[in-house]
Amino acid sequence: MGKKILAVYFSQSGQTEAIVKNFVRPIIADGNEVEFLQIQTTHRFPFPWSIPVFFDTVPESVEVIPTALEPWQTQSGQYDLVILGWQPWNLSPSIPFNSILQDERFKKLIKSKPVITISGCRNMWINAQEKNKKLLNQAGAQLVGNIALVDRHPNHLSYFTIFHWLGTGRKDRKWGIFPRPGVSEKDIAGVARFGTIVKDYLRENDWNGMQDDLADNKAVPVKYSLMFIERKAGKIFQKWVDIIRKFPHKRKSILVAYKYYLAVALLVASPVILAVDFVFIRPFNQKKIKRQMQYYKGVTYREKI
Ligand SMILES: Cc1cc2nc3c(=O)[nH]c(=O)nc-3n(C[C@H](O)[C@H](O)[C@H](O)COP(=O)(O)O)c2cc1C
Repeated sequence: MGKKILAVYFSQSGQTEAIVKNFVRPIIADGNEVEFLQIQTTHRFPFPWSIPVFFDTVPESVEVIPTALEPWQTQSGQYDLVILGWQPWNLSPSIPFNSILQDERFKKLIKSKPVITISGCRNMWINAQEKNKKLLNQAGAQLVGNIALVDRHPNHLSYFTIFHWLGTGRKDRKWGIFPRPGVSEKDIAGVARFGTIVKDYLRENDWNGMQDDLADNKAVPVKYSLMFIERKAGKIFQKWVDIIRKFPHKRKSILVAYKYYLAVALLVASPVILAVDFVFIRPFNQKKIKRQMQYYKGVTYREKI
């Protein structure tokens, strides 16, 4: 018998939407019914973005503060599986996505239900996924799978190209020479192979071993250098937000300072810190690092890692 699945997503450029739609294709082909629900917020986040408006999302995304949603409806109250298509904003779940996860009616809908998260981002999603895990835990949902698609270009390059994309709305080559931003067309199309894996577990309604299976098939790339940066940056972003909370009337100017801080931290400081780490710290912590990387590929949630 075919199963009933709800696929919820937010997407500005259409990237996350395309990822979700390709992902469910093999699941639909196997005789299951997929209903789509696009998250809409009352406040419309712009696309393309201007720089100040882009950085103005930092406090609320980092603190996971929801915004009002447009009224939403589903055809049923009972689904066999819920798929959540999302994207990180500022190393945190995007504000529209954190809003649906904290919506009381939505929390009831996903309570005790198996949930799969699937995202498309630049390259830093693990910190945000930890916040998702916490919210899903609070909703009583059962996270059974996670898939993360990233821009595979070097961190320094994609920093420039993503701002080109988000600032112009065009997913093309900056100045005609930089690589294309975002998740590649090939990876977006290729996400169907993860849907093929999921459909077998869905048939049996037994999710044991699925995330390992997905991870073995490279559905959750965890790269040491990016994990290292994210773990540090996640804590530092929170400190910036704490300052803004203390001086709310200075929000605008603090965010301008943050913008410069981010560029220097990511482009200049992090390669230096990584080099020091590579020589003095990493060699002596192999076991711990392996354990952390393994954890981020998984779907369990621990307060401290
Ligand atoms: C405000 C904002 C902050 C973002 N922060 C991150 C981030 O921390 N890490 C990351 O890998 N990508 C980040 N991105 C990229 C998004 O995760 C996503 O890939 C992109 O916005 C396209 O998603 P869409 O489907 O909504 O168009 C950010 C995008 C926006 C708009």
